[in-house]
Amino acid sequence: MDGDVVVVGAGLIGLAIAFELAGRGAAVRVFDRGEPGRAASWAGAGMLAPYTEDVADEALLAMGVSALGQYPAFVERVRSASGLDPHLHLDGIVHAAYDGAQLESLKRLARRLRERGVTFDLLDRSSLVSSEPWLGTDVVGGLCIHGEGYVDNRRLGRMLAAACIARGVTIAHASSVAIECDERRVLGIRTNVGFTAAQAVVNACGAWAAQLVGPPPSCVPPVEPIKGQMLALSAPVSLVRRPTWLPGAYLVPRDDGRLLVGATVERAGFDVSVTAEGVHGLLHNALAGAPSLAGFAVTESWAGLRPGTPDGRPFLGVTPIDGLLLATGHHRNGILLAPATARSIADLLEGKGGDELEPFGLARLGTKLPDSRRTTAV
Ligand code: GLY
Repeated sequence: MDGDVVVVGAGLIGLAIAFELAGRGAAVRVFDRGEPGRAASWAGAGMLAPYTEDVADEALLAMGVSALGQYPAFVERVRSASGLDPHLHLDGIVHAAYDGAQLESLKRLARRLRERGVTFDLLDRSSLVSSEPWLGTDVVGGLCIHGEGYVDNRRLGRMLAAACIARGVTIAHASSVAIECDERRVLGIRTNVGFTAAQAVVNACGAWAAQLVGPPPSCVPPVEPIKGQMLALSAPVSLVRRPTWLPGAYLVPRDDGRLLVGATVERAGFDVSVTAEGVHGLLHNALAGAPSLAGFAVTESWAGLRPGTPDGRPFLGVTPIDGLLLATGHHRNGILLAPATARSIADLLEGKGGDELEPFGLARLGTKLPDSRRTTAV
């Protein structure tokens, strides 16, 4: 790889791409209006859960499953470059049911898992209560999906930034960023501090990907912010050991005892306020399933913006402008999909592979694209 790459957006997606490219010998600069690893990358719960999310889209599910398989090695690479630990746990995700209809729905999920060869435990009331005694006495049964889990996404963001720097990536703050291109190809980016030339520019701006100025309309992905409010409780360490889905809320533990409660799903533009209704709904649903949490202190509340797309698939790969790539629109699964996205985008930039990105291209909007392998190699 002999050209400079600019990644716009220092979230987990942008940082993972930069880390991967730098490992393959590219000179990479990352620009962001904020600190690295923030926005949705910081606000999420870090669940690594393609089956729990019950992704119906086969292409997206396949990418999620592949990404889940890549996670341990990805974390190991980032750990050895940064010296930091992101607390990866893949001990399963628990789903709890409180009535017959919810139990039936878990059994249907279990049938789909069996057809795919995914291992799980269907739990009757007594085995669920004995493994998760903090759950309410109204619980009637549950399901534990093996192999899924979570990573501390805030730690992963700090770690990826450090790993990028260790590999020679420049991470720069810019209060404004605009892409510059001629009619055929990308030239670089112009920030408030000047022009940076690049052979390739990757739009990894998450929920802001459609706001990035400069490219023609045919290169702008239809991404919109989908707000998620969350809060954290201070619970005894290891009280809740695995992420647990309750009706209307999920709980995700942290090694320091924080217990995250998430998340709302709202179309509210770029508003990131935490509302009374949002907090009330999350706590109501969490305490309905687990009244034993009621006495724990609420230590934090926040909101983030998932990058949503009309069909739920991310936009990954080439655009009509040679050298301008997209890596955005990961909606509920950005943390999970970061390593797979990074690998595929790096392959594309090296002029190899990329077929797996076909379902995620702009072509599904009717956009005419150049031959990816011929036009993006740097
Ligand atoms: N992946 C969980 C969420 O987006 O709320």
